[in-house]
Amino acid sequence: MNRSVIRTLAALLSVTCLSLTAGCSSTASEDSPLYGSASAGVPEAETETREFPFADVSPSDWFYSDVKTAWESGLIRGKTDSAFAPDDSLTYAEAVKLAACMNQLYVAGEVTLTGGEGAEWFEPYVLYCSSAGILPRDYNWNSPAYRVGIMEIFASALPEGALAAVNDIPDGAVPDLAGVNESESDAVYRLYRAGVVQGSGTDHLCAPFSPVRRSEVSAMLTRLMFPDTRISFAMNPSNPSPASGSHVIETIGGVTYVDGILIANKTYSLPRDYAPGGLTADCQAALDAMCAGAASDGIVLYPISTYRSYDYQEGLYNRYVERDGKAEADRYSARPGHSEHQTGLAIDLNSLEYAFADTPEGRWIAAHCHEYGFILRYPEGKEDVTGYRYEPWHVRYLGIATASAVAASGLTLEEYLGITSEYAD
Ligand code: DAL
Ligand code: ZN
Repeated sequence: MNRSVIRTLAALLSVTCLSLTAGCSSTASEDSPLYGSASAGVPEAETETREFPFADVSPSDWFYSDVKTAWESGLIRGKTDSAFAPDDSLTYAEAVKLAACMNQLYVAGEVTLTGGEGAEWFEPYVLYCSSAGILPRDYNWNSPAYRVGIMEIFASALPEGALAAVNDIPDGAVPDLAGVNESESDAVYRLYRAGVVQGSGTDHLCAPFSPVRRSEVSAMLTRLMFPDTRISFAMNPSNPSPASGSHVIETIGGVTYVDGILIANKTYSLPRDYAPGGLTADCQAALDAMCAGAASDGIVLYPISTYRSYDYQEGLYNRYVERDGKAEADRYSARPGHSEHQTGLAIDLNSLEYAFADTPEGRWIAAHCHEYGFILRYPEGKEDVTGYRYEPWHVRYLGIATASAVAASGLTLEEYLGITSEYAD
């Protein structure tokens, strides 16, 4: 498709989605970062003549022209009249809505899809994508989308011919795809080869498990819809080096991710309002699988502490400080905002006694937890690195591939990611 045809289609997408938004005043889609309320009802011709309104996107930002093009084309809007929120994440539900609209534009020339009501507003888009064979899997629809998740959905949204390979990217050249499955990897390579995604840094790191930002989504949308904006680059298969030291540290919504891994330790804190409210679905499923696996070995594992809110941790920490003093409490209890339990990815199992390490249950955890996606987060003799005394009961969910790699390295998570765990004061 040439640019003018696509621009016409983009305008259709814009207008259709605008009317959808207007027609679903109480739905979650109204608050969508992609189709926010900023420019509701403004058709393309008017949109193009308006001044770029976002104070938080400046011409020196790498994504400036992508956001501008995507916004002018009606593909994406601001969170408010004057804020684009380029660092905010978006959900899988929003991603699937975009995928459905893009696909319908390509195959039918117009968007006739409408959203549903209430919490399940995205259901029609999911159904459309499912029946069009462009939905690779079910996702946690209201969760922030990982970069690799968006790539998988977007790569499926357009027909094969719309993603012609223009870049020489040999298999295996993208260096940081550990833990990525075959279907996701196919999508990553299709988008790299088509010039829709180029990764970050000279190594073109994909950071597959980082939440995708709205700025990045804008770039992908622009490049998907306007092939003349795609990027030419090549990668060398013999030098796929995310060498130690080339870790990607990102802060999204006040939360730090290192190589896509969410970190909460003494150096990196969580906002008070970061509150998943329980274990994440993946972590809960992995815990269930681990307990079942242990049971089949005659070992009974049970969680004694899982998710803890900021406020709960504050009370806990303050009680320990009262009992043992601050210096001692800091050796075994995280200050509020610094506990991994606030992430919904950490669990204390069975017992908080140090002697637990030498029980059959403690030994089983140490030997097998990585097989289910967990690591022992605070190993013995590593207090100067992790910031905490040995905790043979505290496991952290990382997914099987990463947990296995960390376990095989013999390193703490801090050492594996090249980060510190130290309070500023
Ligand atoms: N016991 C661990 C360090 C916490 O309080 O999160
Ligand atoms: Zn713990």
